[in-house]
Amino acid sequence: MNFEALNAIAKAMVAPGRGLLAADESTGTIKKRFDSIGTENTEANRQTYRDMLFTTEGFEKHTSGVILFEETLFQKSLTGPSFVELLQSKGVIPGIKVDKGAQPLANAHPDETVTEGLDGLRGRLEKYHAAGARFAKWRAVINITEDAPSDYAIHVNAHALARYAALCQEAGIVPIVEPEVLMDGDHPIDVCEEITDLVLDAVFAELSAQDVALEGMILKPNMVVSGKKCPEQAGVAEVAERTVKVLKRRVPAAVPGIAFLSGGQSDVDATAHLDAMNKLGNLPWVLTFSYGRALQAAALKAWGGKPENLDKARAAHLHRAKMNGLAARGQWNKGLEKGG
Ligand code: 13P
Repeated sequence: MNFEALNAIAKAMVAPGRGLLAADESTGTIKKRFDSIGTENTEANRQTYRDMLFTTEGFEKHTSGVILFEETLFQKSLTGPSFVELLQSKGVIPGIKVDKGAQPLANAHPDETVTEGLDGLRGRLEKYHAAGARFAKWRAVINITEDAPSDYAIHVNAHALARYAALCQEAGIVPIVEPEVLMDGDHPIDVCEEITDLVLDAVFAELSAQDVALEGMILKPNMVVSGKKCPEQAGVAEVAERTVKVLKRRVPAAVPGIAFLSGGQSDVDATAHLDAMNKLGNLPWVLTFSYGRALQAAALKAWGGKPENLDKARAAHLHRAKMNGLAARGQWNKGLEKGG
C-alpha cells in the first residue's frame, strides 16, 4: 500500500470548498430518476444526461471528484474524449461505485440487507484503476424499523465495508466508506442518533481490525435527522449539533474528510445542514458533500429529457454545486438561493 499516495488523493477529494458529485446511479436507479421526467432509460439518454453534468462550465471549482457507475467509467463523452479524460482535463478525480447493491440478509428481519460485491473485487479494482479511477464507493444500508437494525445486520455490513476498504487500498484506490442509516420511517431524531452512533462504532472497529489506513479513506455517512415521517422534525441547528456530536465521538481525527450523502433531504436542507456544521467550526476533519439527489434533482427536472433544455440543466447543476461549495466552507446563506 502506498500510504502517501492514498493520503494525497483523500485530501484532494476534500479540498477546501469542494465536494463530490455522486452520479453513480445503477441502471435500475437511474431508471427511477428518468421515469420521474418521462424519459426512457437508454444508454444514449444516460450518456447525454451525464455529459450535461460533466460539461457544466465551472462545476469543477466546487467539485473535486465524481462517482461514476461502471458503464460511465468506460463510456465516451458526446464530444469525443472518454468521460474519464473529460473529468481529468478539468482537474476532477474520477471514482467508481463498486458494490453490487444491498440484498436481503439471510436469517434476519425482512427489512435488513447486506451489501454484496466482494467476490472478484480485487480483479475489478485493478481494471478500474487502469481505467483512471482513483477512489471507490461502497454503500451499506441500515434500515430503522420497530425490529431493525439488529446487531447482526450492523456487524456484517461493517465487516463487508472494511473488507472492501482494505482491497481498495491494496489497489491504490481511496475507499469511500458509506454506512447509510436511512431516514425513512417515523422515528424521532434521538433514534437516528443512537443508531448512527452504533453503526459508526462498529464500522471503525472493523476498519481497525482489518488494518485499513484511516488517512487513506473518506467517510460518507448520513446526517443525524428525524425520520421522514416523524411528526416532529428537528431544525437545522439541531441536526448540525447532533451530527457533529456523534461524529466527534466515533470518527478518528486521522480520517481526512467526511463527505455526507443527502439521503432524500431537500436540496436546500442538505446545503443548510452542511453549512451549519461548518459554521460550528473547531472540527478535526473536513466536512463536505457527496450528494446524488441534492446535486442533481434540479438539473434533472430542468432537462426533462429535452435537448433544448441542456443549458438550463447545466445552470441548475452549477447553482447547486456552487451553493454546496459555499456550505463546505460555512459561507452559505439562504439569500444566495434566489440567484438559482
Ligand atoms: P444521495 O445524496 O442521493 O443520498 O446519494 C448519495 C449516494 O451516493 C448514495 O450512495
